[in-house]
Amino acid sequence: MRPTPPAPLDPDQLALALRPFGESRMLPRDAYLSPEVLDWERRHLFEGWMCLGRESDIPQGGMRAESVGDYGVLLTRDRDGVLRGFENACRHRGHELLPCGGASTEAKAIVCPYHAWSYRHDGSLIGAPHFREVESFDPGALSLKPVRVQQWHGWVFVDRSGEAPDLTQHIGELEGIVADYDAESLVTCESHVYDVEANWKVIVENYQECYHCSMIHPELCKVTPPDSGENIELDGNWVGGWMELRDGVETMSFDGRSGGVAMARLDQQERTTVMYVAVLPNLLISLHPDYVMSHQLVPLSPDRTRITCSWAFPPDVAAREGFDPAYAVDFWDLTNRQDWSACESVQRGMVTPHFEAGPLAPDEDGVYHFVTHMARAYQGT
Ligand code: FES
Ligand SMILES: [Fe+2]
Repeated sequence: MRPTPPAPLDPDQLALALRPFGESRMLPRDAYLSPEVLDWERRHLFEGWMCLGRESDIPQGGMRAESVGDYGVLLTRDRDGVLRGFENACRHRGHELLPCGGASTEAKAIVCPYHAWSYRHDGSLIGAPHFREVESFDPGALSLKPVRVQQWHGWVFVDRSGEAPDLTQHIGELEGIVADYDAESLVTCESHVYDVEANWKVIVENYQECYHCSMIHPELCKVTPPDSGENIELDGNWVGGWMELRDGVETMSFDGRSGGVAMARLDQQERTTVMYVAVLPNLLISLHPDYVMSHQLVPLSPDRTRITCSWAFPPDVAAREGFDPAYAVDFWDLTNRQDWSACESVQRGMVTPHFEAGPLAPDEDGVYHFVTHMARAYQGT
């Protein structure tokens, strides 16, 4: 792989973030505010494996485009269900083939909205109006530019660099934690899109600690003790840990009751805890005994992030007549909004002229894992 240049951040401040836990500081203020740092992240961090949503978001014969880093990727699924990724640019004069961030569409072909060049789901060019009589025209040389795509338990990841080590290495030992939830078989019953006025890392950091829970999440604290659980340090490009459910509580919902059923393969520990993991850089997965919630983050600017939150349930539960995912969705929609409000306030607070990176509390070891991961990445290789 090509060497990564250091990010435009003060090396002394990065060194502070890398001091041992208990002595370290947060990332430097510019990491959250500077457009140059976001440019660096788009080019070097979001260039390797990042999540673009769920495979089931794209029906067979469908397509959708998502902005990643500094350009968009077009995902297609053919009639046989084969998923592919392409740079979202027409081979004629570069028009985007689909607007980024829109819903999936189903069509027999990808038709460029500018001059109607058309492509198959495998990226090959079908036709270009008025080129029949142009002798030098070679459709075989004008397929869409492929982007590397892999799936993991139903989540779609792309590697724009084409050079990242295999996705299994990125995931590492997280595989053993997620496997029992059979997430690839789950059915997404609801998705919400939130535009949050905070840097994407503020959102990941907030997700990594419950030090704030007793202050802003009274509903959450009724079902899970905010000081419970532990963070886990295993191999792979992720950070996370688990929290306990209170005695008699089945899942995260307002009354602690599940409107579904616990997943079949979970052990006793998994049935009484919720696992929260951040697959770096942009996927947050919350594994509940009876459903899986995921947040996919797309940075729009240093102080704006688009978050797609989805709730997925076992297929037999989702197919039940009258099944209502609201017990999970409404609980987390409220909790999400409490979190986003805090994150937006943090972003505004960091703009104040004399703001300096603060220390981390003993309960914020998960934040430390993330911060040190970022600081090391910013140092370059
Ligand atoms: S740019 Fe796509 S057909 Fe012209
Ligand atoms: Fe929270």
